[in-house]
Amino acid sequence: MARSGAGVTALPVAVVLLAVVATVAMHAAAGDGGGKMASHGEGTNLKASSAPVPAGGSAGQFRGQARLPRFAAPRRYELHLRPDLVAFTFSGSVAIAVAVSASTRFLVLNAADLSVDRASIRFQALAPTEVVFFKEDDVVVLGFAKPLPLGEGVLKMDFNGTLNDEMRGFYRSQYQYKGKARNMAVTQFEPVDARRCFPCWDEPAFKAKFKLTLEVPSELVALSNMPIANTLVAGPIKTVRYQESPLMSTYLVAIVVGLFEYVEGVTSQGTRIRVYTQIGKSSQGKFALDVGVKSLDLYKDYFGTPYPLPKLDMVAIPDFAAGAMENYGLVTFRDVALLFDDKSSSASSKQDVAITVAHELAHQWFGNLVTMEWWTHLWLNEGFATWVSHLAVDSFFPQWDIWTQFLDSTTNALKLDSLEESHPIEVEIHHASEVNQIFDAITYDKGASLIRMLQSYLGADRFQKALASYIKKYAYSNAKTEDLWAVLEKETGEPVKDLMSTWTKQKGYPVINAKLKGINMELDQAQFLLDGSSGPGMWIVPITSSCGAYDSPKKFLLKLKRDKLVIASQCGDRKKGGNFWTKLNINGTGFYRVKYDDELAAALQNALETKKLSLMDNIGIVDDSHALSMARQQTFASLLRLLYCYRGEADFSVLSHVNSVTTSIAKISVDATPGLAGDIKQLLIKILLSPAEKLGWDPKNGESHLDVMLRPLLLFALVQLGHGKTINEGVRRFNIFIHDHNTSLLPPDTRKAAYLAVMQNVSSSNRSGYNALRKVYRESAEGEERLHVLGILSSCRDKGIVLESLNLIFTNEVRNQDAYIAISGVQIEAREIAWTWLKENWERISKTFSASSLVGVFVRAIVPLFSSNEKAEEISKFFATRTTPGFERTLKESLEIVRINARWVEGIKSEPGLAQTVRELLGKP
Ligand code: BES
Ligand code: ZN
Repeated sequence: MARSGAGVTALPVAVVLLAVVATVAMHAAAGDGGGKMASHGEGTNLKASSAPVPAGGSAGQFRGQARLPRFAAPRRYELHLRPDLVAFTFSGSVAIAVAVSASTRFLVLNAADLSVDRASIRFQALAPTEVVFFKEDDVVVLGFAKPLPLGEGVLKMDFNGTLNDEMRGFYRSQYQYKGKARNMAVTQFEPVDARRCFPCWDEPAFKAKFKLTLEVPSELVALSNMPIANTLVAGPIKTVRYQESPLMSTYLVAIVVGLFEYVEGVTSQGTRIRVYTQIGKSSQGKFALDVGVKSLDLYKDYFGTPYPLPKLDMVAIPDFAAGAMENYGLVTFRDVALLFDDKSSSASSKQDVAITVAHELAHQWFGNLVTMEWWTHLWLNEGFATWVSHLAVDSFFPQWDIWTQFLDSTTNALKLDSLEESHPIEVEIHHASEVNQIFDAITYDKGASLIRMLQSYLGADRFQKALASYIKKYAYSNAKTEDLWAVLEKETGEPVKDLMSTWTKQKGYPVINAKLKGINMELDQAQFLLDGSSGPGMWIVPITSSCGAYDSPKKFLLKLKRDKLVIASQCGDRKKGGNFWTKLNINGTGFYRVKYDDELAAALQNALETKKLSLMDNIGIVDDSHALSMARQQTFASLLRLLYCYRGEADFSVLSHVNSVTTSIAKISVDATPGLAGDIKQLLIKILLSPAEKLGWDPKNGESHLDVMLRPLLLFALVQLGHGKTINEGVRRFNIFIHDHNTSLLPPDTRKAAYLAVMQNVSSSNRSGYNALRKVYRESAEGEERLHVLGILSSCRDKGIVLESLNLIFTNEVRNQDAYIAISGVQIEAREIAWTWLKENWERISKTFSASSLVGVFVRAIVPLFSSNEKAEEISKFFATRTTPGFERTLKESLEIVRINARWVEGIKSEPGLAQTVRELLGKP
């Protein structure tokens, strides 16, 4: 399932949730229990007594419960599976050593889409007297005639299932080998789909040991979490037995069976790492292998604990719902998130591969060794892995300036979290069907941003030491958010729990209003919402500030609604001008926005224009200003004036944020000031043109990685803004490229901009460019390049072309996993066409994409393109009878964005003097 983003802008991760993949596409109840009683080797760590203990009663008492009862818990699974890659079925048997800790005559566990052979079920020698399935809960209740003996017993059963095509549970994926279609069998269990492969206690806190056996065709590679113990070949079938795993959660169990080749490396600790790819592609695994080896070495030191398993495999899977999955010792990836080819991949995809590998490997400690006690604490896994992957990549590739790029995550999260429809980081989960939708920008990006905020408040060294003791304390066990705070508090003596609970238990974040009053700066906090209202939230805010220079920043905790900061001594006499500027939230480490009074804002703008501020602060200022303008706390004209100050900017990260703001402005002006929209585009072009001209289309020898990424960003933006010269040049280069794919005129980095340029001239009566692009799509090997084409095919105003491109998702030209890329190109001018298409095809879309949870991305790509309350009404009516728990949240968020857009439009319409501002800025030298 895709992480469903939220987005004021378009797709992933919530603004792009599917971070990795998206980037490729776009430019390019908690129960009790838990705790740490178990140590390695001792069974599970659930407190047996935390649930009522039903000795009698009926099976019905277990219906509709958020969690399984705790009176019985698995210790060890022996799982035997026989996938049939021709018939797309599998059969299996499982023997589970179960510890019964309180008197009961029931065993309650999970199973879904499996047919369990009733006659085969035994607990020790006992056969159940009743077997009841609660389908809507994925629960099976085994009732026995008498209370079960306390202590350990073995539960056995046989079952059958389908190797489905839904990219979850035990599924099939198709690839080509020697010109023929072949199938592989793959698992994807997180969050709640292990139960689709074998009956189990499918909750993260029921940790157990796993011993797997697979029966598969002899010629195939069969991988699981642990190394192979022995293989027995009997003609066409081999039986592969794996070593027993340490204690782990069900969602991390994994199996991959198919044809592969690999590259191999070894860590300094002696752990063997392999990257498995399709036959013929193993050299594309070298980069990920290198990052993998370095990551394991770095994390061993950072967490103060060695990598827990004997081996690590990373595998590229052709059909994959998410970007990558951290299965213990067997990490699975989408092709594009693992493979890197010097000749055909772009610099940004190199970065994505590095971040993805570092992220999944961080989970081997944070997530796999220490696991969240319940899905409410998912952010511990994902927020942390997101944060620490940046730490790792920064140490491997310091020249990438990845921490500045990290602000993408922060600004993403700030956007989603300024919606009324946002949710707290710690969110109650009442039913398995709710888990999928919390893999969103709040969990990932707000989570990671809060960890950065805390680390910066506590200091890097103290923070690392505390983390290492947290990992040691909870290894092979589970933890809750408060367990982490308790360790940090003990190690640092700081009030971590009080501070952080204000951020994790309530949704939203504050805007700090900063006003100069004599020698003081008055600060007050109010919850920031994009709809212009102010919520009730209050936070303990780690305030940082600098005046005139960065050398002696101030730090303090704003605990009240209002407080004062004395600034005079640092800032000198402001009447003298010069160095006077004050910046709060230095380098955007805090998860809040700042609204300055006019005087402070003017001084800051001056400092920005004269290049006195850090790159990170340049980003924070434009992002805050954009949000304040949307919320109508600031005029549109002042946003344009501020944006104009960035015209001399040359940094990739800053310009990528400037570009998101320009994209948003260009879109909203279509509805808000149709008469001025053309001039506004010219203004935006003026801001982006000079850095683009400096870089040109051709890569320069020895230029930096960031410049290599900046070039396509700017070219793409200029094409999108309709800059004629860039469009013509893109078309010219494309025409050479279609005759000579190896031309140096169009290397992988700039291709997408050229593709978009070609699309500008395409229509139903002038299809040659479109046909050429479709040909490139069909003929390019699978991977990044294909996706770049796919991402722009719907970027057109022509109805016929847009529909033809959208309908590609129903053909076998586009894998289901990539459908969201095919719709991501829809432009504002084609929104009605796309919306009508979505309505007409909804049945089919929801049927095809619900299981893999990719259905939300359709809503997210199309709905936020609108900006009127009437449209929000119409969309909401359409979905009134059509929502499912899987995308309810996404829909509500998207509708809120439409209403926010509508309010912004009204605000801009009523702004006097806007035209004059635009003209004045356009006329400036
Ligand atoms: N644990 C997730 C994979 C996942 C996502 C499973 C959603 C179930 C539902 C994995 O660690 C992850 O976060 N993958 C990211 C990539 C990462 C670089 C942010 C993804 O798939 O987008
Ligand atoms: Zn993750």
